[in-house]
Amino acid sequence: MKKRVFLLILSIVLPVSLVFSQSIENIAPGIWKIVFGAPEKYLPTDFKEPPLSEPLKTLGHVDRPPFDLKTIQFRKAAGGIIAQLPVDTAERFYGFGLQTNAFEQRGMRREIRISSWVSGNLGFGHASMPFYISSRGYGVLVNTARNTVFYMASKGKLDTARFERANNDSQKIALTTVDLYGKQHTPSNEVSIVVNGTEGMVLYVFGGPSMREVVQRYNLFSGGGAMPPLWGLGFKYRTKATFTDKQVAAIANYFRDNKIPCDMIGLEPGWQTHSYSCSFAWNKKNFPDPDAFISSINAKQFKLNLWEHAYTHPSSPLFDSIVKYSCDYTVWTGAVPDFITAGAQNLFGNYHETTFVKKGITAFKLDESDAADYLVADLEWSFPDIARFPSGIDGIQMRQLFGTLYNKTMIDLYRKNNKRTWFDVRSSYLFAAPSPAVLYSDMYSHADFVRMTVNSGFAGVNWSPELRETNNEADLIRRLQTITLSAQMVVNGWYLDLPPWLQYEVNKNARQELLPNHKQLEEKARKLINLRMSLLPYLYSAFARYYFEGIPPVRALVLDYADDVNVMKIDDQYMLGESILCAPFIDSASTRTVYFPKGTWYDFNTNKKYEGGRSYKITMSIDEIPMFIKDNTILPLANPEQFITSETVLQVTCHIYGKPVQPLQLFEDNSFNYDYTKGIYNRLQLSWDGRKGSVTRKGNYKGRLYNINKWQVVAS
Ligand code: GAL
Repeated sequence: MKKRVFLLILSIVLPVSLVFSQSIENIAPGIWKIVFGAPEKYLPTDFKEPPLSEPLKTLGHVDRPPFDLKTIQFRKAAGGIIAQLPVDTAERFYGFGLQTNAFEQRGMRREIRISSWVSGNLGFGHASMPFYISSRGYGVLVNTARNTVFYMASKGKLDTARFERANNDSQKIALTTVDLYGKQHTPSNEVSIVVNGTEGMVLYVFGGPSMREVVQRYNLFSGGGAMPPLWGLGFKYRTKATFTDKQVAAIANYFRDNKIPCDMIGLEPGWQTHSYSCSFAWNKKNFPDPDAFISSINAKQFKLNLWEHAYTHPSSPLFDSIVKYSCDYTVWTGAVPDFITAGAQNLFGNYHETTFVKKGITAFKLDESDAADYLVADLEWSFPDIARFPSGIDGIQMRQLFGTLYNKTMIDLYRKNNKRTWFDVRSSYLFAAPSPAVLYSDMYSHADFVRMTVNSGFAGVNWSPELRETNNEADLIRRLQTITLSAQMVVNGWYLDLPPWLQYEVNKNARQELLPNHKQLEEKARKLINLRMSLLPYLYSAFARYYFEGIPPVRALVLDYADDVNVMKIDDQYMLGESILCAPFIDSASTRTVYFPKGTWYDFNTNKKYEGGRSYKITMSIDEIPMFIKDNTILPLANPEQFITSETVLQVTCHIYGKPVQPLQLFEDNSFNYDYTKGIYNRLQLSWDGRKGSVTRKGNYKGRLYNINKWQVVAS
C-alpha cells in the first residue's frame, strides 16, 4: 500500500519512464531481454520448451545487440504500455506469425489475435504472433498474450512532416478520392508497439546477423524445430465425417488395392457420440467395436488419427470432473478446460492416454481452438474475451494461448510414451517450433495457402495447405502439386464420399458419380503421391536441420537470398529444404513468372537450365510440377513405398545436378520414437567426386533408414 502511494507521488513529479523500471539482459547467445515495468502474471515463455542451448552457441557469434537497445522508448498509456523503436528508411519487416494476406509488412498495422477468420488484412490468424523480423538482421518479440498492435513505420510524426513540405508544395489538386486520400503520406521511421491491459512489457531482441540466423536463433530458443516421424511426411487422407467403420475400411482398401501410397487415415467428427461439443466417446453405431477397428486399420499399416476439439460436452465421461477446471462460459454448450491448471491437464490427458493413445491412436487433429468469425459475436465459436478461467488468466490472454496449451497437453502424452507423432492443429502461438504439428484452415484460397506456406518459415510453424474439392481438373492437379511440396501432404475429405480425383465436384461426389476420366486423374494423383514418397529422405533430413539448427524446411526466398532486392516481396515462391525452389501455379494457371536467385537452376521435369538473377515466363502442363533444383545439388530420391513401418529401409538413388556438387547429409534414426533427443542417430555424408559417389555413415543408431543404391547424373 505504502509503495503504491510512493509511486503515485513519484509519478506526479517524475516522467513515467523513470518510475517504471527498465532492464536489459543478454539471456542467451545473441538474444536480449528487455523488461519495462511490471509485466502480467502469465507470459508465453511460461509455456515454452527449454532452449536448445548447444546449437544456439554454434550460430554466428553476436557479441553486441543488433541495435542500441537504449533507443527503445517505453511509456505508459491508458490501460497499457507503448514501446517505440527507431528504424531506418530502407528497412523491411516480415513475420507476425502465420500471416495470411500480407508478406512484407512495412507500412502495415498488425493486430495480433488468434482467429481462424482473418476478417480483412488486420493481422489476425490461426497463428498470429507478436514477433517480426527486420531486413537489418534482427527480430523483435513481445512476450505477451494480451492484445498487441504493431504500427510498422505506418504513420509519420509531425516533425517528419515538416521536411516533407517542400516536396508537397507543388501538388496537383485532386479530383478523385484515391488521389485525395491516398497520396498524403508522411514517411515514418518508427515502429510502435502497443500492448493493452498490462503494467509492463517484455521484449526479446534476436540478433542475426542475417535474417536467416534470426529465425534460427528464435527456433532454437523455442526448443529446436519439430521432428516429424518419417510417416508424417508421407500422405494422409481424412475420411468423410459420417463414415462407418466399414466405409473407412473401404477407403483404406482403395488405397492399398490401387497402389496409392497412404500412411495415415484421419477420422472426422462422426466417430464420437457427440462432436459439437465433444463427448470423446466412440459412436458405437458407426464403430461398434473400436478396438477391432483400430487393429484392422493398423494391420493394413495405416496410422489412425482422430478429430476432436477441447470443448467438452455434458454427455462426456470427462464432463463432471473437468467442469471445475473450466471457464465460466461454454462453447457449443461444452465446458472449456483451463489447460494451465494441473487438474484439467491431468483429467483430459489421462483420459486420452488410456482411451486412445494406449489403444493405438497415433495422432489427433485438434480443431476449433482458434475462434471463428470475430465480426459476428454469436458465431465466434469460442469463449468470449470476458471469460474467467480458474488459473486466473483472462479470456483475452487465453484466446492467444488456448491452442498452444491444448496442443501441448495432447502432444506430451506421446512424448511420455516415447512415440513420435504428427498432429493437425488449428491454432498456435509464440515458441511453437518444437511442436510436432501442422496448422490447417477452413479457408481455401490457393494464393493465400501459398503465401501462408511462404510466411510459415518466419513463424516456427508448419503449414498444411490441404486439398478438398475443386472446380476443375487443372485446379485439382495444381493444388495437389502444392500439397506435395509442403510440410504435410493431406487430402481432407471430411465432406467427400470419394477422393477428389475420382470426382472433384461436391454434389456429384455426394452421389458417387465418377468423373469420365477418373482413372487418368487417379494416375496423376498417384504419380504426385509417389513423388512425395520419393522425396522422404530429402524432406526428413531438412526437418533434422530444423530441429538441430533451427533452419525452417519451408521458407521465403528472402531468408536464403537476403541481398537480392528482387526477392524482397516474393510471396508465391519458396524454398523447400536447401536445394528445391517451388513456384506453384495458382488457380489453374499454366503460365507464370518465376524469379530465380543467383546461380543455375534446373526444371525437375525436363532438366531445362535457367540462369538465375532474372525472371522467366514459364509454361508447364499439369503433368509437370513447378519444382526447380539448385545447381551443385545431390537430390536423394527413394523408390516410393506404399507406407512407412519401423522396418522400412528406403532404396535411394542420388541425382546429381551440376558440377561440382555439395556433399549432402542425410539424417537417419528410429523415426518412431524420441531417441534422437538423446543423441541416438546417424548422419550419412553423401559425396560425388565427378565420377562416382561415396557414403560415410557416422553415429550410434544401429538401424537403417536408407540404402544408397545408385548415382545418376542428371545435369552436368
Ligand atoms: C472444421 C475443420 C475441418 C473439418 C470440420 C469437421 O473446423 O477445419 O477440417 O474437420 O471442422 O467438422
